[in-house]
Amino acid sequence: MLSDRSRPVIEATLPVVADNIEEIATRFYTHLFGEHPELLDGTFNRGNQAEKTQQMALAGSVALFASALVKVPEQLPEHLLNRIAHKHASLGITPAQYEVVHDNLFWAIVDVLGDAVTPEVAAAWDEVYWLMAYALIHQERGLYSARGVRPETVWREWEVAERIQETDDVVSFRMRRTDDRLVRTSLPGQYVTVQVPMPDGVRQPRQYSLTKADDGEHRQFSVKRVRGGDKPDGEVSNFLFDHVHVGDRLTMSPPFGDVVLDDSRPVVFASAGVGITPMAGMLSHLATAHSQLPITVLHADLDEGSFALRQQVLDDVATLPSASAHVWYEHGAHSTLPVDVHGGIMNLDDVKLPHDAGYYLCGPLPFMQGIRSALIERGVSPRDIQYEVFGPDLWQADLVTEEAPGRHAA
Ligand SMILES: Cc1cc2nc3c(=O)[nH]c(=O)nc-3n(C[C@H](O)[C@H](O)[C@H](O)COP(=O)(O)OP(=O)(O)OC[C@H]3O[C@@H](n4cnc5c(N)ncnc54)[C@H](O)[C@@H]3O)c2cc1C
Ligand code: HEM
Repeated sequence: MLSDRSRPVIEATLPVVADNIEEIATRFYTHLFGEHPELLDGTFNRGNQAEKTQQMALAGSVALFASALVKVPEQLPEHLLNRIAHKHASLGITPAQYEVVHDNLFWAIVDVLGDAVTPEVAAAWDEVYWLMAYALIHQERGLYSARGVRPETVWREWEVAERIQETDDVVSFRMRRTDDRLVRTSLPGQYVTVQVPMPDGVRQPRQYSLTKADDGEHRQFSVKRVRGGDKPDGEVSNFLFDHVHVGDRLTMSPPFGDVVLDDSRPVVFASAGVGITPMAGMLSHLATAHSQLPITVLHADLDEGSFALRQQVLDDVATLPSASAHVWYEHGAHSTLPVDVHGGIMNLDDVKLPHDAGYYLCGPLPFMQGIRSALIERGVSPRDIQYEVFGPDLWQADLVTEEAPGRHAA
């Protein structure tokens, strides 16, 4: 908890920090990578840096954490910390690196705010940083220990046992272990980080949701190639798509991720496009467990041809006694599969939703925001809705900056 000495200082300086936090985050990363170029090889995602999404997520998280400390001092923002800790653990972040981040972050704060950073202000923000850092370090220690790894042993080699072309743009990789080490179970909904050496020699990490239930031997994930349009094509997804085949090896982390299935109550999955992947993983787990729960699968796509994993998902729905599937295709209600099909974008008005369900959303941010609002409109409690973001979580960061006192003043 924040000390009595620091609280008024944080309250007084939060508006100016919040107003400048994106600039602070941008200079922080430039300085960090200048001092520690090794962090660009295998640890940080350079696509997120180029798009500035990681800078915004870091800025938003610090602003949210500080404003939560001031507003509700007895309760840490758990959802925020969980998401970050799982992502960090999937990248092998060490406690010692928090010192490095601290030094570079405070360099950037002084660089941006100059003389406004008096010794009193610096001490108060130092306290905020270490409260957040220790909360994360503590949680990451627990995550490593639960997976039986240390930060240095997070990475392990796997071999591509099967490559399945799902659609024109999506391919699944079924990975088999290459050693005798135990394959730890995943929680349904989790992802792995895959670390891929790029043609320029730099390793790039990306997260991919697991799409099949555990069998003690394999892990399966599915990748959609990112077409850049007027921007560069996605580098890792296209590399995996074009160059990785059966027999090749990939380096992967154990499964992490805080959006996991609660299989003690009815379940509703709502996804769009490649957002089907964590849903397919959770559904596969429910099918393997012969679940009797009411399960509703809602999925939106362009058309049947672009619906990745459709056969697996619909086969799983067919084996579950209380499951149903409803799909929406933007290009029209045409289907050859046993599924309730609609034309257009997802609309929940005509869908019967089970009572007291847990909801899981995954897809582009506007899709998830729209569905979440529609569910809340229908009386679903926000705490029953979980969502997975395929990138740094800017939704949360947005909520944060809106909530930060004084953010929109003047
Ligand atoms: C928890 C989680 C689970 C995920 N699960 C899945 C999954 O199951 N399946 C899946 O397919 N994906 C998943 N993802 C997304 C995945 O991790 C990658 O982000 C995705 O594959 C794109 O990576 P990339 O290297 O191909 O693209 P990147 O190279 O990282 O590019 C990403 C974007 O940045 C833009 N960009 C890159 N460089 C520049 C530049 N210099 N200037 C301007 N713009 C630039 C690109 O045009 C592109 O739009 C998941 C992500 C998370 C966080
Ligand atoms: C208190 C300190 C820290 C805070 C507040 C913080 C915050 C964050 C946030 C908000 C994210 C994005 C999570 C998401 O939504 O996916 C993130 C990801 C990440 N963090 Fe941290 N972090 C801290 C410390 C560290 C340290 C010490 C390291 C080690 C170098 C580190 C490395 C990373 C990396 C590599 C990612 C993934 C980046 C990406 O995928 O683009 N962080 N962190």
